[in-house]
This record gives sequence, C-alpha cells and structure tokens, in this order.
Amino acid sequence: MAKRVILAYSGGLDTSVIVRWLTERGYEVITYTADVGQSEDLSDIPEKAKASGAVDAIVEDLKETFAREYCMPTLRALALYEGKYPLTASLSRPLISERMVYYAKKLSANAVAHGSTGKGNDQVRFELSVWALDPDIEVLAPVREWEFKSREEEIEYAKKWNIPVKVTKEKPYSIDENLWGVSIECGPLEDPWTEPPEDAYQITCAPEKSPEEPFYLTVTFENAIPVAINGKRYEKLWELIRELNTLGGKYGVGRVDMVENRLVGIKSREVYEAPGALILYEAYRDLLSLVTDRETFHYLISHVSHKYAELVYNGLWFSQLKEALDKFTEHLSPHVKGEVKVKLYKGSIKVVGRTSPYSLYDEHFATYTTQDKFDHTAGKYFTKVYGLPMKLLGRVRGKKL
Ligand code: ARG
Repeated sequence: MAKRVILAYSGGLDTSVIVRWLTERGYEVITYTADVGQSEDLSDIPEKAKASGAVDAIVEDLKETFAREYCMPTLRALALYEGKYPLTASLSRPLISERMVYYAKKLSANAVAHGSTGKGNDQVRFELSVWALDPDIEVLAPVREWEFKSREEEIEYAKKWNIPVKVTKEKPYSIDENLWGVSIECGPLEDPWTEPPEDAYQITCAPEKSPEEPFYLTVTFENAIPVAINGKRYEKLWELIRELNTLGGKYGVGRVDMVENRLVGIKSREVYEAPGALILYEAYRDLLSLVTDRETFHYLISHVSHKYAELVYNGLWFSQLKEALDKFTEHLSPHVKGEVKVKLYKGSIKVVGRTSPYSLYDEHFATYTTQDKFDHTAGKYFTKVYGLPMKLLGRVRGKKL
C-alpha cells in the first residue's frame, strides 16, 4: 500500500517539485493549500497540484479562522518579536499544521510534509505544531535533504517531469504573505546596510509619495475585537483587517526593517509590511491603557508581550504557557470596549483620542482646575513614605567615608 502524505502546498517551484519528489519515493501525495489572505488567485491550485503528480488537492478558506483564532490572541498580548515584528508568517504555520493534522487523520495519511528549508524558523513551527497535536505523525521536509543545489536544478527536474512552473523573470525576493502582513527577504535585502528598494514593498505606498493630508480613522472595539472602522461595522473580521491594510498601505504605514535573530542562531535582515496589524496594535494598546489598572497594564506590556512573542516566533503556539497567557489576556477582554481615534500621516500611526465605558481615567483626579478632587495634602505623606529609601541612601552618600 502506498504511503500517504499531506503536503503544505503553495503552488510555487519548491512545493511543486516536492510533489513529484515524494511520489518518486513511493508516496501518494495530497496537497493542502490554505487561503490565509495572501493576495493570490488559488483557483488553479488543484489543477497545478495534480499536474505535478498529486492524487488530490485540498484548498481551504481559513481567513476568518486565522483572523479570530490566531491574529486576535496575538493582538491581545500585544506581541511583537524583538519589539518590532508582528509575527505575520509565524502565525500562519500553526494553523496550517493544525489543518494538515486534521486531514492526515481524516484521510488516513501517516505523514505530512512542508517546503521549509533547514535554516529557517518555519520548519520548527510546522514540526512542533504537528507533534503537539499528534506525535505519531511523521513530518517530511524534502528541501532539507534533497539533491538539488540550485533553482536551476529544480527547474530542470520540473521540465523532465512536465511539472507546470511559470518561468517568469524571477523576483529577487522571497515573499510570504497573509492577512496579517507580508514578510520579504533575500536579494538586495541581504545587505543590512542597503535601504530596501521600493520594489521590495508589496502592499504599502512609500511614505514620501503618500497623500499630503492626514487621514483620521476611528476603530471600535467590543470584547477586545475590532468591530468597526469609522462607524462601519464588519461582519467578517478578516474584511475589517483587509480594509485597514488598504487604508494603511495608502498612507505608507506599517513598514518594518530589521535584523532579526532566528531561532537557529542566524541573524537575518527582514522587511515586513503590516499596516492593518500595526494600526490595531497602536489602537489596542491605547485602549488597554485606559481600561486596565496600572499593575496589570505594566505586566502585560512588558512580561506577557515579550514572552508571547518569543513563544509564537519559536514555534510554541501549542505550548501550555502560550495557552495560559491567552487566558490572562482573555480575562481582560470584556473591559476592552470603546473607540480609538487614529491619525495616519506619511508612514506614521498616531493615536489621538480614546474613549471607553470602562475607562479608569477620572478627570476630577487628573485636572489642574478648580474641579480637582485629589487630596494634595496626601502627597506630602505619600512622598515621605515612598521616599524613605532615598533618604536612607542619601544619608550614607552624604557621609565622607
Ligand atoms: N523571518 C520571518 C519569520 O521567521 C519571516 C519568514 C517568512 N518567509 C519568507 N519567505 N519571507 O517569521
């Protein structure tokens, strides 16, 4: 009986070649392609997969699941890897793995395969996610072990087997796109001193070419989920995010250029575009600061954010700690309700207003007018007690030793 494998398939050269390569090694290949909001037409995927030798091809629309179950928990944690990267590519891998495990069980396959290389993060994310869901499933990574040394060799193999590959002028970049953003690597970006050429950017306009007038938008949150933009409600969360990508892209916001530490130890130069995600991060953080007490807010923006980003980046989406941190942020969700006014202007995202029925802001305490309710005499005793350690220190420092 042929061994059956579910292959994460994009339709590009690598994964098309993998279909045949696995077939030659006695596997019956079923391809799996998820629509996670990449702006690509997936309608010809089944035909392509079968022409490459697949026995069947699954294409699934996961945009809403991706938005609700992957992007939102990450937003709630305000997780940014190394303080900058909103984890766009890192988030789609566990979801794709989850679905591949589902189909592996359903279609009696005992292996899944992916097209990631041996020096990236994605191999780790695929494999750890699959094993966390079913440790008995074997994970194959042909690119890590096959004989091809270059793209040309792969193209030659594809020709030999009549695998349909578009031989267009190859873009120098490696691009991974989903609803939450675009990751761009390779080509001229490999020199960290070189400014990313404009053609590296896929969904954002150059800030210097963006409109001269600022654009204001109001994001409404309910139960920690963005539900409306400028009063217009969206049934589908993924459509709201797509709209923010379009708006933000027009104003040149959401570009990130960084040298990042991969899990395997390499430093790599990465360029990202995540206009929608980064607008939501700014808005969410601001609303959260209005509705959470000081200790909780500080804990979230320092400890939770940092750890959550590290876990997701390192492929530990299905770990207990990540799930426990989800419970932490979920606990706060009912209070994260309100509106945030955001100003987009030539590449910048600025929050300029916020309001919430759960606001902890009390004007009577904050004001410097006659409306002031704060007991100023308390300040004297407060500093006396709070400042005692400084007095003790000051006394010793003042001594001539
Ligand atoms: N460095 C990013 C990450 O590890 C993006 C990798 C996505 N792949 C790509 N071909 N651009 O999450």
